[in-house]
Amino acid sequence: MYNYTQMDESKIEYVEIAPSSELPNGERMFVEVEGKQIVIFNIAGQFFSIADVCSHDEGPVGEGDLEGCNITCPRHGAQFDVRTGKVTHMPAVVDIPAYPVRVVDGMIQLGVPKE
Ligand code: FES
Repeated sequence: MYNYTQMDESKIEYVEIAPSSELPNGERMFVEVEGKQIVIFNIAGQFFSIADVCSHDEGPVGEGDLEGCNITCPRHGAQFDVRTGKVTHMPAVVDIPAYPVRVVDGMIQLGVPKE
């Protein structure tokens, strides 16, 4: 299961990323958490996060064009839903990880599975 947004909260550990003011509406932020390349989006005031690694051929999917909640990998055009990591268009066939994001006291926190 790669959609960690659906995971039991007790199995998630939140890591502080940055003040939410640094990620305004319509912007994205690239981070590395526990060795994982991750991108966080602010879409209409809601925060979403996926792995910045395409399941097709490890392309930098986080740099792709975003339409609504659908992102297109710049390498070969696979598409994913940034809310769930679900693949929505070929050539990828495998979902990518999606991570929970919350804001606590003005700080963005990213949820990653506990080891
Ligand atoms: S690497 Fe993303 S579509 Fe091929």
